[in-house]
Amino acid sequence: MTMLRIGLVGLGRLGKIHAEILSGQISNVDLVAVCTLDDKEKSWAVSKLGLSATCCFSDFEKMLDEAKLDAVVLASPSSYHFNQTYLALSLGIHVFCEKPLAVKEEKIQNLFDILNTNSGLVCQVGFMRRFDPVYMKAKEKIVNGDIGEIILFRGYSLDPISEIHNFLKFLPSSSGQFLDMAVHDIDMANWLIDAFPKTIYSCCNSFSFREFEEFGEGDNVTSLMQYENGSMAFIMAGRTAQHGYHIETEIIGTKGTIRIGSVPSPHQLEILDGSGVRRECYTDFADRFYLAFQNELVAFIKNIHEDEAPKCGIHEAYKATLIALKATESLKEKTLIKL
Ligand code: NAI
Repeated sequence: MTMLRIGLVGLGRLGKIHAEILSGQISNVDLVAVCTLDDKEKSWAVSKLGLSATCCFSDFEKMLDEAKLDAVVLASPSSYHFNQTYLALSLGIHVFCEKPLAVKEEKIQNLFDILNTNSGLVCQVGFMRRFDPVYMKAKEKIVNGDIGEIILFRGYSLDPISEIHNFLKFLPSSSGQFLDMAVHDIDMANWLIDAFPKTIYSCCNSFSFREFEEFGEGDNVTSLMQYENGSMAFIMAGRTAQHGYHIETEIIGTKGTIRIGSVPSPHQLEILDGSGVRRECYTDFADRFYLAFQNELVAFIKNIHEDEAPKCGIHEAYKATLIALKATESLKEKTLIKL
């Protein structure tokens, strides 16, 4: 099997994880170039990934021009995703793009047009929960009819309050809680309910950090949706969890209920001490979803080699992006949105 030449864009919190996975944990790929604006990250790529300095770019287009790539993995800030995806696909380069695919209503049709005329191109979007073994098991049970018809999907994505000061620096350039965080829950609701919402209503509040109000947001946000098939979804995203990184999902069906992560702990170990009986919480997304990050990149490479459509491509990403944008609009306009 031929080696695929990969270029990675962004070497920040998530880019470094993708770099680690691409250089050594997957066969038939060669991470040949990286692109970052940060010189320290370039030095990291030289020392940890063994790349030469000439393979560390600051300019995305220059990397595409010079590095002879088969595929790119985009872990750049969200506002670059759409244009970088478009540019790479139009040059016939396969794309793995982190979520969200876009931060405003872009001309997604252009991406569909490229993919329609070049059916061998793979474009996958980073909804890694679809590759997490527990969520995969839940999907299997739902498809099998084990919990009947879905009444309610409930999804929480809560970031630890210990990270709030890093987040507040990023707040002015953030695309908002629904696109940044809750878009994962939106994608999960779409995937598990297997339909599209018809109405959406969001609300929020800033309980501890008034800084969010300047952007029409809250430090905690919620949204209630009704899907075309009658199922409902309640989504919450927040930045103030005292206990750690908490991703919880519940799917209530007419014949049973599935719960995922109601105790957000990586192991069975319990500590009995002066605070009582407790389990340690996940600390961040890498702690909780490392295996899913590996699985999604393995699937991306396999799809390219085997000329198969991705499990989570542009159609799925477009739906999740559109719903996240509408959820944000509902928050800002304080009104129910019909889709
Ligand atoms: P970060 O801020 O830690 O890193 C951003 C990286 O992009 C840096 O290396 C920076 O030098 C580079 N960069 C900035 N502008 C660039 C440009 N014009 N061209 C090329 N590189 C550029 O960001 P983080 O937290 O790693 O997030 C990156 C993306 O990954 C975001 O879109 C975020 O939504 C997504 N993400 C997804 C997660 C998931 O659960 N799937 C978890 C964390 C982030």
